[in-house]
Amino acid sequence: KVLVTAGPTVEAIDPVRYITNHSSGKMGYEIAKAARIRGAEVTLISGPVSVKPFTGIDVLKVKSAVEMHDAVVQNAAEYDIIIKAAAVADYRPKNIAENKIKKGGAMSVELAENPDILKELGKNKRNAVLAGFCMETENLLKNAEKKLKAKNLDFIVANNLTAEGAGFKTDTNIVTILDKDGNKSVYDIMGKDEVAHIILDKCVKIMNKD
Ligand code: PMT
Repeated sequence: KVLVTAGPTVEAIDPVRYITNHSSGKMGYEIAKAARIRGAEVTLISGPVSVKPFTGIDVLKVKSAVEMHDAVVQNAAEYDIIIKAAAVADYRPKNIAENKIKKGGAMSVELAENPDILKELGKNKRNAVLAGFCMETENLLKNAEKKLKAKNLDFIVANNLTAEGAGFKTDTNIVTILDKDGNKSVYDIMGKDEVAHIILDKCVKIMNKD
């Protein structure tokens, strides 16, 4: 059983406006599709995206990071493999205005921190395979190494958003995978569908080892 998160989260400022990011969901949806094709029972917890899920996948649609947190935490215990490709907002507006905020010169929005879903999963990982992503614009491997350890992951998929053909919205990605045994695999640019299979191959290898 495979649980995948995908897409952005959207954090409301008022009933009209929100904060989000450029995630299209493609990376996570390709992982869910690849897992389904390989015979897994797949649940996709997804922020608002326009990509369509592959057939036979259970899709839970969420909006905010808090909603994604609740959906993931409520379901996580049933899964053998959890892959977190979603671009979860680290912050949300501290207060959501009840009505549309009227214009009147400069406006500032105080932000509050969102729950770190992956970190929470890492705390009670059971023997599920837990894989996260690391999205950076600089110091990619240093940050990925830090997250790998801090969130108690089996491995982390690092992608540098500034690299041509990597990251948001593209059909391709350029990833480096670091695992908890200190192995590092650097991959050239390839389709997100191919990256998905590489990630799943790694999950299967870890499962067979345990
Ligand atoms: O969707 P696409 O357009 O195809 O773009 C793909 C992608 C760039 C979004 C994807 O490849 C990717 O990098 N996803 C992770 C984006 C992200 O949030 O990275 P991060 O380094 O900020 O977070 C690290 C990890 O912690 C991620 O697995 C994330 O899901 C998780 N996280 C982050 C914040 C938070 N509050 N809770 C989390 O669980």
